[in-house]
Amino acid sequence: MYIVFEGIDGAGKSTQIQMLKEWLEANGFRVETLVEPTDSEVGKLIRRILQRHDAQTDSVQKTLGLLFAADRMLIMDKLNDESKIILSDRSFISSLAYQEPAEWIEVLNRYAKKPDLLLLLDLDVKKSVARTSGEDTFENEEFLTKVKANYLDLVEKYEHQIIDANNGVNKVSSDIKKAVAPYLGICPDCIR
Ligand SMILES: Nc1ncnc2c1ncn2[C@@H]1O[C@H](COP(=O)(O)OP(=O)(O)O)[C@@H](O)[C@H]1O
Ligand SMILES: [Mg+2]
Repeated sequence: MYIVFEGIDGAGKSTQIQMLKEWLEANGFRVETLVEPTDSEVGKLIRRILQRHDAQTDSVQKTLGLLFAADRMLIMDKLNDESKIILSDRSFISSLAYQEPAEWIEVLNRYAKKPDLLLLLDLDVKKSVARTSGEDTFENEEFLTKVKANYLDLVEKYEHQIIDANNGVNKVSSDIKKAVAPYLGICPDCIR
């Protein structure tokens, strides 16, 4: 099963993937976690380009669109490993939420694997800025508001659950467990 976590920075993806991984392993499942961009050569290049002072210009954004698509093409086989539950921090859906134009991003990601379950960690934009201490000047409130709205539209195309990420860590974690449980034959009422 390929479970994708999406949401703006600070939504709690890294935190919640770790918590869900531990819980699933305690329940006897084999779990693999992934982060996009990956640690491949292309992923490293993406991270470097994201640091550039001109990262927000149209030409660099389009370059990033190409590189993100290439980076995830490299991990395609990993995603089809049926012996494990794969928890992925971001996916092609991030490209669709963050980058333009949509039709072109869709073409680039035509062969990207669709999630079996998409968990959108939906966070208020002001909280994102506070949790990340506004470290990334590009991800200002106006931009994040657009990304958040894009996400809420995009999730409708996939099997998904929207998780209220404004709550405390433990409440978010138990909401995620309840969302995932039915797909894995775990009784949802057995979760705290
Ligand atoms: N539910 C929560 N409430 C308050 N702070 C949180 C919550 N979840 C995560 N955080 C904190 O917010 C920051 C970003 O969390 P992180 O899991 O790295 O988010 P993401 O991977 O989506 O960017 C971290 O400092 C983390 O400890
Ligand atoms: Mg993270």
